[in-house]
Amino acid sequence: MNHNMARFLVLLARRFHRVFPMLGWINAFRSGLLRSELKSCGVSVDIMMPSVIENPQLVILGDRVRIAPFLHVWGGGGVEIGSNVLIASHVVITSESHDPKSPLFIDSHVKAPVKIGDNVWIGAHAIILPGVTVGSGAVIGAGALVREDVPPRAVVGGVPAKVIRFIKPDEGGISNS
Ligand SMILES: CC(C)(COP(=O)(O)OP(=O)(O)OC[C@H]1O[C@@H](n2cnc3c(N)ncnc32)[C@H](O)[C@@H]1OP(=O)(O)O)[C@@H](O)C(=O)NCCC(=O)NCCS
Repeated sequence: MNHNMARFLVLLARRFHRVFPMLGWINAFRSGLLRSELKSCGVSVDIMMPSVIENPQLVILGDRVRIAPFLHVWGGGGVEIGSNVLIASHVVITSESHDPKSPLFIDSHVKAPVKIGDNVWIGAHAIILPGVTVGSGAVIGAGALVREDVPPRAVVGGVPAKVIRFIKPDEGGISNS
């Protein structure tokens, strides 16, 4: 990289630096807008942008839900997320799919509700498929593909996700079910 190019990049970085606070406000506005579109949204909910929630009018979030960037929710079949839930980045929660036996996938639309209990931690890049219920106090490991119900306080991981272990009562973690 020559000297002029380096100077140009420094100048560009300085100019963008002034724009960054504005990006923060825009993201806060987008997050607030998304929360207001939900079927119901508890208090102290933090959705980091960019995140996408399709059909937000069918999606419920409890209190103190923390969502890292790049969450994508397909909410058409109904999605219910409890309170004190942590969702890491790049998670997909889908209540919608297509029928692989249909002649044209695009014409088939399968919907089944997803329910996530209280005090659940969903690791980065996990995918939760339609019809799944995740019990309270469960941990979904990073990269897990969850296609079956997860029992309360289970730690699951893998593709497809399997139970790794259960969180013992003396390890803490609260469960409401
Ligand atoms: C699921 C998780 C919490 C497990 O923690 P843990 O209970 O301390 O488990 P351990 O690390 O002791 O591993 C226990 C076993 O589970 C396996 N395992 C751990 N995490 C796994 C995962 N994500 N997928 C598949 N298997 C996993 C380990 O390989 C180990 O298997 P082994 O007994 O055959 O060797 C953790 O590995 C994880 O995925 N955390 C998510 C981190 C994340 O996404 N952070 C983003 C910011 S919040």
